Amino acid sequence: MMRDADPKPVRLADYRPPDWLVDTVDLDISLHPTATTIRARLAMRPNPLGREGSPIVLDGDELVLKSLALDGAALAGNAYSVTPSSLTLLAPPQQPLVLEIETQLDPSANTKLMGLYRSSGTYCTQCEAEGFRRITYFPDRPDVLAVYTTRIEADRAEAPVLLGNGNKVEEGEIPGTSRHFAVWHDPWPKPCYLFALVGGRLDRVGDHFVTATGREVDLGIYVEAGKSARAGYAMDALKRSMRWDEEVFGCEYDLDVFNIVAVADFNMGAMENKGLNIFNDKYVLASPETATDSDYSSIEGIIAHEYFHNWTGNRITCRDWFQLCLKEGLTVFRDQEFTSDERSRPVKRIMDVRLLKAFQFSEDAGPLAHPVRPSTYREINNFYTATVYEKGAEVVRMLKTLLGPDGFRNGMDLYFERHDGEAATIEDFLACFADATGTDLGHFALWYAQAGTPQLTVTGEWNPAEKSYRLDVEQSVPPTPGQPDKQPLVIPLAIGLVAPSGEDLPLTLTDGSSPAGGVLTVDTARASFVFRDVAERPVASLNRGFSAPVRLVSNLSTEDLVFLARHDHDPFNRFEAVQTIAFAYLIEATQAARSGRNLPGPEALIAAMGASLADPALDPAFISQVILVPSESDIAREIGQDVDPDAVNAARGTLRRAIGTALADPLAHAFERFAAPGPYSPDAASAGRRALRNACLSLLAEAGTGEGVARALGLYRAADNMTDRLQALTTLAHYAPQHRDEVLADFYERFRDDPLVIDKWFALQAQIAEPGTLDRIRELTGHPAFSLRNPNRVRALIGSFAASNPTQFNRADGAGYEFLADTVLGLDGSNPQLAARLLGAFKSWRLLEAGRRARAEAALRRVAGKPGLSPDVTDIVSRSLA
Ligand code: PHE
Ligand code: ZN
Repeated sequence: MMRDADPKPVRLADYRPPDWLVDTVDLDISLHPTATTIRARLAMRPNPLGREGSPIVLDGDELVLKSLALDGAALAGNAYSVTPSSLTLLAPPQQPLVLEIETQLDPSANTKLMGLYRSSGTYCTQCEAEGFRRITYFPDRPDVLAVYTTRIEADRAEAPVLLGNGNKVEEGEIPGTSRHFAVWHDPWPKPCYLFALVGGRLDRVGDHFVTATGREVDLGIYVEAGKSARAGYAMDALKRSMRWDEEVFGCEYDLDVFNIVAVADFNMGAMENKGLNIFNDKYVLASPETATDSDYSSIEGIIAHEYFHNWTGNRITCRDWFQLCLKEGLTVFRDQEFTSDERSRPVKRIMDVRLLKAFQFSEDAGPLAHPVRPSTYREINNFYTATVYEKGAEVVRMLKTLLGPDGFRNGMDLYFERHDGEAATIEDFLACFADATGTDLGHFALWYAQAGTPQLTVTGEWNPAEKSYRLDVEQSVPPTPGQPDKQPLVIPLAIGLVAPSGEDLPLTLTDGSSPAGGVLTVDTARASFVFRDVAERPVASLNRGFSAPVRLVSNLSTEDLVFLARHDHDPFNRFEAVQTIAFAYLIEATQAARSGRNLPGPEALIAAMGASLADPALDPAFISQVILVPSESDIAREIGQDVDPDAVNAARGTLRRAIGTALADPLAHAFERFAAPGPYSPDAASAGRRALRNACLSLLAEAGTGEGVARALGLYRAADNMTDRLQALTTLAHYAPQHRDEVLADFYERFRDDPLVIDKWFALQAQIAEPGTLDRIRELTGHPAFSLRNPNRVRALIGSFAASNPTQFNRADGAGYEFLADTVLGLDGSNPQLAARLLGAFKSWRLLEAGRRARAEAALRRVAGKPGLSPDVTDIVSRSLA
C-alpha cells in the first residue's frame, strides 16, 4: 500500500496536544528475516489537556495487524477500524487502559530504510521522523513521551548481538531452541522517534568513561565483523565529546551504557537514538589507509553531534516537527563549538561559513527556500535541510553574540533546568534566554520565521575634518515562496576599524559609548553609526567572524580588501577579504569568457594569495583555505542569474592556471616545506599541512608548472595515507588525462574490497568536467561494486555528479538532467527519501541561462507527470516548479 501521494499539508498553527498519552511501552520483538513479529503493550490514559471523550487514533505505515486486545480482552470487530496506515479505537473507556497490539513485518523487504530493516544481514531500525509507525501502531508524534522496555529475541547464530535503548536488564537462552533474547530498559521518557534496536553478528570495540560525578559508563562501538580496528578514532572522539559537554555545557551522561552501531545502508549521516546511536558506517570507520583527513574530521564532528543530542534533542525534545531546529540547529552549534575547541577555531569558522553559503544560501535563494522553523510541510523528511541545520546553528550563534558568553550559558542552564523531560518549542527556548538575561527577544525571534538571506549594504566614510568615521547600514530580505514582504531583522554586526598601522582603533560612538565586543546591533531597515577620534583613514572590517549570516555588500575597494587580507586581526575576515576579491574577479571573468573579451590579470588576488603563502606566522590549514579558489557553484550563486556553467568553468580554470603560473615557486616550495616529518596522524595540525600541500599541488598541476604532474604521480605512488593518495589521484584524473586510466585502475585494484573507498573512486569519476563523463557514469551504474540499494553508492556516483560537476550535470543538451530524472524515478519506488534528496540537485535551476533552464524545467515536469510518485518526491518536485 502506498501512502497518499499528495497529503494535506501539516500546519504549525493547527497544533493540538495529544488526546491520549502513553506512559509505558513494553515491546516484545521476535526477529526473523522475513517475518518479524512485534507485540506492543501500551499503557495509555486520556490527556487532561486533550479533547474529552476522544477516540484513540494510532498511526501506522504499511502495517499488518495480527491481533488487538484492550485490557486483556480481544476487541470486537466493530470496536475499532484498521488500515495499514491507522488504527482507531472508536469509543474507548475514558480511563487508563492497556492496549496490546501485534503486528508482523518483513525486514528484508524494507528498502526504504525506515522502520525495521536489514542492512548487510544486520537488523536495525530508523524511526526519525516517522519510522516507528512502520513497526507498530502508535501515536507517532514527538510530544508523546513514554518509558520503554524492549525484549528482543532472535536466532543466536544470526544475531548474537542484541541491543536496545537504555540499560540491559536481562538476557538468556530460549531452552530447546536456537534462539536467545535480551531485555533493555530505558528509564528516561522519550518520544518514539528515539526508539532503536539492533540485532546481528557484529564486532565490538569497548571502552569506558567516568562521568564528572564519578559514574562509570560502558562504551561500545559495534561494527561489521573484521572492521573493529577502524573504530578507534570514533571511540576517541566519543570520549572527548563526553568530557567536553560536561566542561562547556555542564551536561553529564545519564545511562550505564552508551552504544554506537555502524551500518552500511543508511539514508542519513547518523541517528541519536537514546543510548544506542546508529551510524552510517562512513562516519565511524577510519584508518589512515582508507580515510581522508576530511573523513576523520566528519567522524569526529558527527560522533560529537549525535552524542550532544543526548541533552539537546533527547532529554529535551521537540513538541512537534516544526520545532526541528530546536534540536538540530542547537546541536550543530554545539558540535561546531566542540570542533573549534578541539581543532583551529578560525579554520573551523571558515569551513562552516563555506558550507553555509554553498548549501544554505543557495537553498534560500531558490524555490525550496523555507524559514528555520517552517510553518507548514507536506513531507517532514524533506525538512532535514541546510536551513534547519546550518542556518539554525547560525541563529543560536547570533544569540550568543548578542547576549555574550555568560548570558548565553545562563540561558542554556535555565533551558536544561526548566525543560528537562519535556517536548519544547522555540518560544520556550527563547524565553529561557530572555528570562536569564532580561532581554526582549521578540524581534530576534523573526530569524526563525522569515526565510531568505538578508542583504546588508554597508557604506563607510572617513571624515578627516571631524576625525570621525561613519557607517551607513541598510538591510533588506528578498522575497521567498509564500513570503513576498519582509521585515528588518536583528543583526549583530561585529566590526573593527583597522588603522594604517594594522591596529584596531578603539570604537567610540559620538555619544561616548562603545559597542560591547565591537558588535553593533542593526535592527531597522537603515541605521547609521558615527565613531569619533578617528585621526587616520581606517579600513572597516565588517561582519567579523561572520557574526550574521548575511550577504554583505560594501564600498571597500580592492586596495582596502588587500589591506585587510594582510592586517585584519580577525582571521575570518582576512580570509573573506581574499574571497571577496576572488568573487569580484571571477564574476567579471565569467562575463568575459562568454563574450570572448579579455580581462586585465588578477594581480591583486595573486599578490594577496602570495602574501599568505609567504607569511610564516600563518597556520598552513588557514593558508590552504585562502588559496582555494571559490567553487563553480559558489561563483554561479554569486552571479545569481542567467548563469552559463561553461563560462564559469572557463573563468575559474583560467584563474587557477594564472595563480599556478604566477606563484609556481612559492607553491612548489610550500609543497616541499610541509611534507610530513613522520607517519600519518589525523590531528588538525598534520591535516592542515596536508591540506596546504595538496592545494598547492592541484594549482601546479592545473597550470602545468612546478612539476605538478610529476609530483602528483610521486605522491600517488608513495602515499602512506588516503588523504594524499586520493588528492594525488584526483589531481591526476583532472589535469593529467594521460595518466588517468592507469591510476584509476591501480586504485580500484588496491581497494576493491572496501566499499567506502570505492565510493571515493565512483565520486571522483563522476566529477570529471568533460563530455565523456555522463557515459562513464552510465557504465559505472552497471559496475559490480555499484548498487542502487545502497544510499552511499548512489550519493557517491550520482549525487556527486549532480552536486559537484556543474558543466556535465548542466550539459547544454539536457542529458544530465534527463539522467538525474531517470535515476530519481527509478529509485522512488524503493527509497523515496533518497530519491527526493537527489532531486534537490535541481534547487538552483532558475538561475541558469534560458536554454538550460528550459531543459531543466522539462526534466522536472517529466518527473512531476509520472503517476504514483511518493509523497517525498511529489513535495520536492512541486515546490521546485512552483
Ligand atoms: N537526527 C539525525 C541527526 O541530525 C538526522 C536524521 C534524521 C537521521 C532523520 C535519520 C533520519 O543527527
Ligand atoms: Zn542532529
